[in-house]
Amino acid sequence: MVGPRAHAIISARSKDDLIFRDAFQPGRVHVTTDDGSEGFKGNTVDFLRTFDLSGFTEIYVCGPERMMFSVYRELRSRQVNARVEFSLERLMKCGIGLCDSCSIGGYQLCRDGPVFSIDELDRMEEFGRSRLVESGRRITL
Ligand code: FES
Repeated sequence: MVGPRAHAIISARSKDDLIFRDAFQPGRVHVTTDDGSEGFKGNTVDFLRTFDLSGFTEIYVCGPERMMFSVYRELRSRQVNARVEFSLERLMKCGIGLCDSCSIGGYQLCRDGPVFSIDELDRMEEFGRSRLVESGRRITL
Protein backbone atom coordinates (compact mmCIF):
# COMPACT_ATOMS: atom_id res chain seq x y z
CA MET A 1 0.00 0.00 0.00
CA VAL A 2 1.28 3.42 -0.96
CA GLY A 3 1.22 6.34 1.55
CA PRO A 4 -2.25 7.42 2.70
CA ARG A 5 -2.03 10.88 1.13
CA ALA A 6 -0.86 9.67 -2.27
CA HIS A 7 -3.12 9.90 -5.28
CA ALA A 8 -2.77 7.82 -8.41
CA ILE A 9 -3.98 8.27 -11.94
CA ILE A 10 -4.22 4.84 -13.51
CA SER A 11 -5.05 4.65 -17.18
CA ALA A 12 -5.72 1.90 -19.69
CA ARG A 13 -7.50 1.35 -22.96
CA SER A 14 -10.32 -0.55 -21.22
CA LYS A 15 -11.31 -1.62 -17.68
CA ASP A 16 -9.97 -5.14 -18.29
CA ASP A 17 -6.48 -3.67 -18.74
CA LEU A 18 -6.37 -1.70 -15.47
CA ILE A 19 -3.75 -2.69 -12.87
CA PHE A 20 -2.65 -1.64 -9.35
CA ARG A 21 -5.97 -0.13 -8.28
CA ASP A 22 -5.70 -1.87 -4.89
CA ALA A 23 -2.30 -0.30 -4.13
CA PHE A 24 -3.92 3.04 -3.29
CA GLN A 25 -6.43 4.23 -0.71
CA PRO A 26 -10.05 4.19 -1.90
CA GLY A 27 -11.01 7.62 -3.14
CA ARG A 28 -7.46 8.45 -4.12
CA VAL A 29 -7.33 6.37 -7.28
CA HIS A 30 -8.39 8.19 -10.42
CA VAL A 31 -9.14 5.72 -13.19
CA THR A 32 -9.26 6.66 -16.84
CA THR A 33 -10.07 4.43 -19.78
CA ASP A 34 -9.85 5.31 -23.44
CA ASP A 35 -13.18 3.62 -24.15
CA GLY A 36 -14.95 4.93 -21.04
CA SER A 37 -15.66 1.42 -19.71
CA GLU A 38 -14.54 2.60 -16.25
CA GLY A 39 -13.83 5.98 -14.69
CA PHE A 40 -13.02 9.06 -16.71
CA LYS A 41 -13.39 8.57 -20.47
CA GLY A 42 -10.14 9.62 -22.06
CA ASN A 43 -6.42 9.24 -21.56
CA THR A 44 -4.13 10.30 -18.73
CA VAL A 45 -3.48 13.76 -20.11
CA ASP A 46 -7.17 14.38 -20.79
CA PHE A 47 -7.81 13.68 -17.10
CA LEU A 48 -4.77 15.61 -15.94
CA ARG A 49 -6.13 18.74 -17.65
CA THR A 50 -9.14 18.57 -15.30
CA PHE A 51 -7.14 17.79 -12.16
CA ASP A 52 -5.96 20.41 -9.65
CA LEU A 53 -2.28 19.77 -8.97
CA SER A 54 -1.68 22.85 -6.84
CA GLY A 55 -1.54 20.94 -3.53
CA PHE A 56 0.93 18.30 -4.66
CA THR A 57 4.58 18.46 -3.71
CA GLU A 58 5.75 15.38 -5.61
CA ILE A 59 4.61 13.84 -8.89
CA TYR A 60 5.94 10.57 -10.28
CA VAL A 61 5.23 9.45 -13.83
CA CYS A 62 5.74 6.05 -15.43
CA GLY A 63 4.29 4.24 -18.41
CA PRO A 64 4.61 4.37 -22.18
CA GLU A 65 7.03 7.08 -23.25
CA ARG A 66 4.59 8.79 -25.62
CA MET A 67 2.15 9.16 -22.71
CA MET A 68 4.91 10.42 -20.43
CA PHE A 69 5.93 12.94 -23.07
CA SER A 70 2.34 14.23 -23.20
CA VAL A 71 2.29 14.46 -19.39
CA TYR A 72 5.64 16.26 -19.48
CA ARG A 73 4.27 18.85 -21.92
CA GLU A 74 1.09 19.27 -19.90
CA LEU A 75 3.01 19.80 -16.65
CA ARG A 76 5.39 22.24 -18.31
CA SER A 77 2.47 24.22 -19.74
CA ARG A 78 0.98 24.55 -16.23
CA GLN A 79 4.25 25.42 -14.50
CA VAL A 80 3.61 22.98 -11.65
CA ASN A 81 5.63 23.70 -8.51
CA ALA A 82 5.90 20.06 -7.39
CA ARG A 83 9.06 18.00 -7.73
CA VAL A 84 8.37 15.88 -10.83
CA GLU A 85 10.18 12.68 -11.76
CA PHE A 86 9.78 10.34 -14.70
CA SER A 87 10.85 6.71 -14.86
CA LEU A 88 12.27 6.07 -18.33
CA GLU A 89 12.85 2.85 -20.22
CA ARG A 90 15.55 2.11 -22.74
CA LEU A 91 17.15 -1.03 -24.09
CA MET A 92 19.91 -2.07 -21.68
CA LYS A 93 22.60 -4.44 -22.89
CA CYS A 94 25.52 -4.24 -20.45
CA GLY A 95 23.88 -2.48 -17.50
CA ILE A 96 27.22 -1.00 -16.35
CA GLY A 97 27.76 2.02 -18.58
CA LEU A 98 29.91 0.48 -21.32
CA CYS A 99 27.73 -0.11 -24.38
CA ASP A 100 25.73 3.15 -24.49
CA SER A 101 22.62 1.29 -25.67
CA CYS A 102 20.59 3.00 -22.94
CA SER A 103 21.77 6.53 -23.66
CA ILE A 104 19.40 9.45 -23.88
CA GLY A 105 20.37 13.09 -24.05
CA GLY A 106 23.87 12.54 -22.71
CA TYR A 107 22.68 10.33 -19.83
CA GLN A 108 22.83 6.58 -19.48
CA LEU A 109 19.75 5.03 -17.90
CA CYS A 110 21.74 2.20 -16.32
CA ARG A 111 24.08 4.59 -14.51
CA ASP A 112 22.28 7.92 -14.24
CA GLY A 113 18.65 6.78 -14.06
CA PRO A 114 16.24 5.36 -14.85
CA VAL A 115 14.44 8.09 -12.91
CA PHE A 116 15.00 11.66 -14.10
CA SER A 117 13.65 15.00 -13.04
CA ILE A 118 11.51 17.10 -15.34
CA ASP A 119 14.41 19.58 -15.55
CA GLU A 120 16.70 16.82 -16.82
CA LEU A 121 14.08 15.88 -19.41
CA ASP A 122 14.22 19.45 -20.71
CA ARG A 123 17.72 18.62 -21.97
CA MET A 124 16.79 15.27 -23.56
CA GLU A 125 15.81 16.06 -27.13
CA GLU A 126 15.01 12.43 -27.96
CA PHE A 127 12.69 11.96 -24.98
CA GLY A 128 9.24 11.13 -26.37
CA ARG A 129 10.55 11.21 -29.92
CA SER A 130 12.95 8.35 -30.63
CA ARG A 131 14.94 5.49 -29.14
CA LEU A 132 17.46 2.85 -30.18
CA VAL A 133 16.35 -0.74 -30.84
CA GLU A 134 18.43 -3.92 -30.35
CA SER A 135 20.15 -3.58 -33.72
CA GLY A 136 21.31 -0.08 -32.81
CA ARG A 137 18.92 1.49 -35.29
CA ARG A 138 17.06 4.59 -34.08
CA ILE A 139 13.28 4.48 -34.38
CA THR A 140 10.70 7.21 -34.04
CA LEU A 141 8.23 6.73 -31.20
S1 FES B 1 23.14 -0.63 -20.67
FE1 FES B 1 25.11 -0.40 -21.51
S2 FES B 1 25.60 1.64 -21.07
FE2 FES B 1 23.66 1.36 -20.14
